[in-house]
Amino acid sequence: MDCRNIRFCDLRSQVDLNQLQELFKLAAFWAQNRKIEDLAVALANSDPVISVWDENRLIGFCRANSDCVYRATIWDVVIHPDYRGLSLGRKMIETLLAHPRISRVERVYLMTTYQQGFYLRLGFQFPNPSTTMVLYNKPQATSLPAPAMASGESLRG
Ligand SMILES: CC(C)(COP(=O)(O)OP(=O)(O)OC[C@H]1O[C@@H](n2cnc3c(N)ncnc32)[C@H](O)[C@@H]1OP(=O)(O)O)[C@@H](O)C(=O)NCCC(=O)NCCS
Repeated sequence: MDCRNIRFCDLRSQVDLNQLQELFKLAAFWAQNRKIEDLAVALANSDPVISVWDENRLIGFCRANSDCVYRATIWDVVIHPDYRGLSLGRKMIETLLAHPRISRVERVYLMTTYQQGFYLRLGFQFPNPSTTMVLYNKPQATSLPAPAMASGESLRG
């Protein structure tokens, strides 16, 4: 694998939503049926968003929500199957954790079905499992909030 052109990006405006949809279809079992317009809303309401590129090919992605002080949650962590085992997943999560919106947060949470071993290598621990609860919410057809973008930033499909 020639890794010379691999780069990490923290600009969500750079994420090609069509490539993201394809990456999820290929490698993210929980995100098989996501629509482009919904992905756009999810990205607009996530910060930071980290993407990994081999030249112009999207090969990795993760995103987080953060209050910048107390709590943050990581979502949608994926590395393209052709690029696994090269420490790119580790570097991508380290890039996310080093972001100013995450670096001073007291606790960073995530949920994973199969990849506990990966996150243990990165320093994550198991809290008391009984503390996790979920509401399977029924999506309502309401207008969704799109937060103000940083100046010069826009979302491209
Ligand atoms: C999980 C995933 C992101 C890991 O990406 P990756 O680039 O292959 O991982 P890395 O090469 O950076 O691995 C980092 C370390 O974790 C270890 N590791 C990776 N996957 C592991 C696993 N499933 N179990 C145990 N250890 C694992 C590696 O051996 C490596 O250890 P080292 O740094 O001590 O040598 C990737 O396998 C993936 O995209 N999986 C499918 C999507 C998914 O399940 N995402 C998680 C959703 S919560």
